[in-house]
Amino acid sequence: MGKLFYGTMTGNTAIVAEGIQSALAELVDEARCIDRASAEDLRACDFLILGGSTWGDGELTDDWVDFLPQLDNIDFSGKRVALFGLGDQVGYTYNFVSAMRILYDKVKERGGTIIADRMPTAGFDFAHSESVIDGHFIGLVLDEANEPDLTAERIVAWAEVVRQQVKVPAGTL
Ligand SMILES: Cc1cc2nc3c(=O)[nH]c(=O)nc-3n(C[C@H](O)[C@H](O)[C@H](O)COP(=O)(O)O)c2cc1C
Repeated sequence: MGKLFYGTMTGNTAIVAEGIQSALAELVDEARCIDRASAEDLRACDFLILGGSTWGDGELTDDWVDFLPQLDNIDFSGKRVALFGLGDQVGYTYNFVSAMRILYDKVKERGGTIIADRMPTAGFDFAHSESVIDGHFIGLVLDEANEPDLTAERIVAWAEVVRQQVKVPAGTL
């Protein structure tokens, strides 16, 4: 079974994380704030969902900033990781959901395999995001500030990609 770990400042991500967990209930048995997690908790999982909102200007939330050094003590090789991020495409159009990229880079640096990392940007309207690579979002992107009505369907579409890719043998993704 996998687990979901999230960061949040005002609680939006906590609510969304529950929705993500129920959409992938057969793969994820818990959604927990990263401020209540240890490196050992992450090491114990072969499949992880990591995410949170973007704060400052393209920065991770404080709870993730505090945890980040611990990621350097985790060997992600053999682990599948799916990412998600919350942001505000209107208020922060020049750094929309950019913090997700910080987690992406760190997991890859530590040898992890990111899945569901080619999600369409269609339907969003923003100037720049560090979380776009080759024209695709590197994970699930949600905008509770402007498009909360689209969150459920975005979770369902991404969850289907996760479900398919989590089973694909290593090296063929
Ligand atoms: C001070 C502040 C800074 C923010 N910075 C960004 C940002 O750089 N990029 C972005 O996409 N959203 C940004 N946001 C929007 C938040 O990511 C968004 O409101 C999110 O839903 C908050 O989720 P949370 O309650 O889980 O922290 C910012 C919001 C605030 C209040």
